Amino acid sequence: MTGTFAVKLEEKRYLPDPRFKATAWTPDYTRAYQEFMRDPDAFWDRIARELVWFGPWDRVREWNHPYAKWFVNGKMNITYNCLDRHVTSERKDKPALVWRGEGGEERRLTYDGLYREVMRFANGLKSLGVGKGDRVCIYMPLVPEQVVAMLACARIGAVHSVVFGGFGPDALAMRINDAEAKVLITADVGYRRGKAVPLREIAKEALTHTPCVEKVVVLRRGTPAVDLDPAREVDYADLCREAAPDCPAETMDAEDPLFILYTSGSTGAPKGIVHSCGGYAVGTYYTARHDFDIKETDVFWCTADPGWITGHSYVVYGPLAVGTTVVIVEGTPDYPDPGVYWHLVQDLGVTIFYTAPTAIRMFMRYGDEWPAKYDLSTLRVLGSVGEPLNPEAFEWYYHHIGGGRCPVVDTWWQTETGMHIITTMIGEAMKPGFAGKPIPGAVVDVVDRQGNPVPPGTGGFLVIREPWPAMLRTVYRNDERYRTYWETIPGCYTAGDLAVKDKEGYIMILGRADDLIIVAGHNIGTAEVESALVSHDAVAEAAVIGKPDPLKGNVIKAFVTLRVGVSPGDGLSAELARHVRKSLGPVAVPAEIEYVDRLPKTRSGKIMRRVLKARELGIDPGDISTLEE
Ligand code: WT7
Repeated sequence: MTGTFAVKLEEKRYLPDPRFKATAWTPDYTRAYQEFMRDPDAFWDRIARELVWFGPWDRVREWNHPYAKWFVNGKMNITYNCLDRHVTSERKDKPALVWRGEGGEERRLTYDGLYREVMRFANGLKSLGVGKGDRVCIYMPLVPEQVVAMLACARIGAVHSVVFGGFGPDALAMRINDAEAKVLITADVGYRRGKAVPLREIAKEALTHTPCVEKVVVLRRGTPAVDLDPAREVDYADLCREAAPDCPAETMDAEDPLFILYTSGSTGAPKGIVHSCGGYAVGTYYTARHDFDIKETDVFWCTADPGWITGHSYVVYGPLAVGTTVVIVEGTPDYPDPGVYWHLVQDLGVTIFYTAPTAIRMFMRYGDEWPAKYDLSTLRVLGSVGEPLNPEAFEWYYHHIGGGRCPVVDTWWQTETGMHIITTMIGEAMKPGFAGKPIPGAVVDVVDRQGNPVPPGTGGFLVIREPWPAMLRTVYRNDERYRTYWETIPGCYTAGDLAVKDKEGYIMILGRADDLIIVAGHNIGTAEVESALVSHDAVAEAAVIGKPDPLKGNVIKAFVTLRVGVSPGDGLSAELARHVRKSLGPVAVPAEIEYVDRLPKTRSGKIMRRVLKARELGIDPGDISTLEE
């Protein structure tokens, strides 16, 4: 079995205003891609030279399948590129971070201000005995100190492992123990929907079975300030106050580890993905600048929490290396009302906005009137990440948020890739439903199980053929697991996604390969069926699973949430079945449709089909530590 299958492709396209192309950092995608393919090492060498290095590299890359080294023997520190480089320039007094809290509170840190805070906290960590190579766990709400903590670790060569503040004690303990973190940095509380989330209490519970943790740094936000346990806990502000102001950046080898990040675990047990300093810095700097086309006056808002890779690469390291103004918001997209994000865009003059399809579909569900209340005219580029941006959601985002004016960059990548791999570069024709083409710098293909390329219109496995600078270096303490990425399909990095190319080389992501349903011998991607359902006016979100069937092997069962104001009246299921049949054919029609109020999702917004399936079949759902409450 080759694992391939036929897919019907959308034809629609949008051409952005030619001015985008004329002024873009990558003004001609095709030429840039050819230049890259002619001499990949020269391409990356040129980009790496835009950053500051303490010592030169001997070779751009060393590829010893499945192990890559980038900028071999080069010396650098990513924070020098995110901070020092800017404070000695006109960017010194430019806002680096603009933070908003749920109640509308605001804090601003200039590049100089951020630089000073990072150095103090870095010295504070040193005073706790943290040094190069030590692991530090960061379990914080989305406040400037979360970013400061990450940068402070990187400054002294400590390896951070950020755990999203929405995780519970078991998930936190598992991550602390796997990484053998010496210090935990947390806060008394985070705020969500007007309520305080007791992070320190959750951390305390986790710490009852994490013998490796020696000290806990607590950021105290609430009044009156909570009492700390003097034996183990240290106040964040005291630590900074007592620390020396200057902390030169530690000299790091390009291949030294920068951080560990546990994958969101939508499939199986979490893996500690290890990223290294040099290649990650180059890859995130380049993609942030070129894929979003960040210019000096932009105000950049990526709505992800730094607890996810999107936050690491496109809230913290990439945008700060570029030297842009980064907006960070502690809160949820529909609290206190579904207009809160658009209010912030208007208020802060956001020009580049990057979010996830799950948020976009939620906004669609609340209705067009919410964005219509605000002036969104500052926006010039929109981004999407995390799941397929189905054509329906693309259209809504493009018209209702972007005013039909802003390119939409649908970026495909993973915790493992560290940086964007596929998108439609600014200025190029956009095709709803397609993420786009490999960025100049990545070699991507759609192949069968043996690694042979499949023709346009035939679905197969998405692979990356060549190493790239920000690729994962290993899975922490599980190198065997690392090797399977490169050994599943001969010679390629297997992403685990299904995809299809069209004749022009645009790639449509069909969903995870493990979310494939085989119905009567036909492979059906869950994403495809879901997209078809969501394209119906009545449907807000959909998740489909395969349900064992004696005749067909599997049949499709769909779980559907309806748009506000729609009820599953007579004939809706038949109507939806007709709708799917029309777009995908009879084989993809759900045998069963169940209407639900909400779908089980990971905290990063991925639908956990595995949970629906387990519930349906009455079996154990496996690890659900990443499930939203
Ligand atoms: C998986 C990686 C990378 C940041 C967020 C998720 C899916 C990601 C897209 C996209 C379709 C996408 C893939 C991928 N995915 N971006 N633009 N279109 N699917 O990181 O948790 O490591 O998940 O997310 O299935 O394999 P992650």
